[in-house]
Amino acid sequence: MDNDWSTFGVDLHLDLAAGRDPGEGVRTALERSLREAVRAGRLAAGTRLPATRALAAELGIARGTVSAAYDQLAAEGYLIARHGSGTRVADVARAERPATRGTPAPPRHDLRPGRPDMGSFPVAEWLRASRRALGEAPPAAFGYGDPRGRPELRAALADYLGRARGVDAAPGRIVITSGYVQALGLLARVLPPGAFAMEDPGLPFHREVARFAGREVVPLPVDRLGADPSSLAGSDVAAAVVTPAHQYPTGVTLPPERRRALIAWARDASGVVVEDDYDGEFRYDRQPVGAVQGTAPDSVVYVGTAAKTLAPGVRLAWLVLPARLVEPVMRAKRLTDYQTESLGQLTLAEFLTSHAYDRHVRASRGRYRRRRDLLLAAGAELPGCSLEGVAAGQHVLLGLPAGAPPEQLLLRRASAHGLSFDTLADHWHAPSAAHRQGLILGYGTPREAAFPLAVTALTRLLQVELGP
Ligand SMILES: Cc1ncc(COP(=O)(O)O)c(C=O)c1O
Repeated sequence: MDNDWSTFGVDLHLDLAAGRDPGEGVRTALERSLREAVRAGRLAAGTRLPATRALAAELGIARGTVSAAYDQLAAEGYLIARHGSGTRVADVARAERPATRGTPAPPRHDLRPGRPDMGSFPVAEWLRASRRALGEAPPAAFGYGDPRGRPELRAALADYLGRARGVDAAPGRIVITSGYVQALGLLARVLPPGAFAMEDPGLPFHREVARFAGREVVPLPVDRLGADPSSLAGSDVAAAVVTPAHQYPTGVTLPPERRRALIAWARDASGVVVEDDYDGEFRYDRQPVGAVQGTAPDSVVYVGTAAKTLAPGVRLAWLVLPARLVEPVMRAKRLTDYQTESLGQLTLAEFLTSHAYDRHVRASRGRYRRRRDLLLAAGAELPGCSLEGVAAGQHVLLGLPAGAPPEQLLLRRASAHGLSFDTLADHWHAPSAAHRQGLILGYGTPREAAFPLAVTALTRLLQVELGP
């Protein structure tokens, strides 16, 4: 049989019963299904349809019915029937694909934080690593595996994290997840009962993730030194979730005495510190500060991610767990999605062991530092504004002077000029008129050539809005 769906390489699900009116005949239903498939792009232009006999057999209907439906759609211009080459899909204007409908266009000047420069994703090196990794992978690598993730990646990460971030990592205590988001969700499920203390201000999305997994979330105040653990003593908190290398969004690095206080709390209260090291590789004025986990691997869960060093779309992150949490997290991972997909893991393992990762991070550091310097120089000219945070990461907090227009108003005015950024407002656990105002400016997103224009758009707007 050389004319069934599979021979032609197309596999199209036609459900004649779906959406069919009680009085609608089989032929009309078939015409409607095919028409919809062509319009929606499920049947691409040029696709060869199966022979009438094959489709009739597949659908359990008369061959004449299929011929008549093909004729009708050819008459309407959806199909082209050519003697000797069968029936093909015509190149009709497609209905807009639902997946792209309604997706807002990115702003012209995109200073939204949380995104690296995706335009500098190392495509060629990634492809090379992927070709090599997949070429050398044993067949078992394509099967179901350890819920912790591929051993190649866990070994490569144990090496890298020890060397570059001072993490006490053994491959057996590493679990690969789909982003920090999944790591946090898994921890929220398996840690002992108690609230999650999360930085205030901090990323609202992560509070939602913890709540969605059933946790009560309480504020962990952040002052000019970073997270202040003094409120934790005597509370029912199970985990303190912190960003010690570069607090999000204020940008401070947690000093040694606060690190020690966090660990002392965790030891006294049998709690856990969750260390979100989302951009720990990016420090521009000195060696990156080592992870807290390295000093207390029994009390700290370290979480790293490829979202800033490579791209959020890679969706790979890694937990380094105290030994007692390995089994519970593995179980939760297995019951959630069994394991993270293997092909990206194999590629990342090769990327790490070949040191392409180090090279990419080093090149990115240079790029981000230049961008940061440009933004700081421009911000220094703005009346009454403060630029906060250490020279690290991919964002900066611009503190607004007292009497500045409300953040939301600035955001709306900016949007009218095609400019976008985040405001501090959403990052507080509870709104209050007493909160200071600030703009969170990401310097990762714009393409290299577009960045200076975005900075100019920002300074023009703020010069007008904040007055002389
Ligand atoms: C504070 C913080 N932590 C972690 C992440 C990384 O999240 P994920 O790995 O889920 O992309 C981000 C990303 O923006 C972040 O801002």
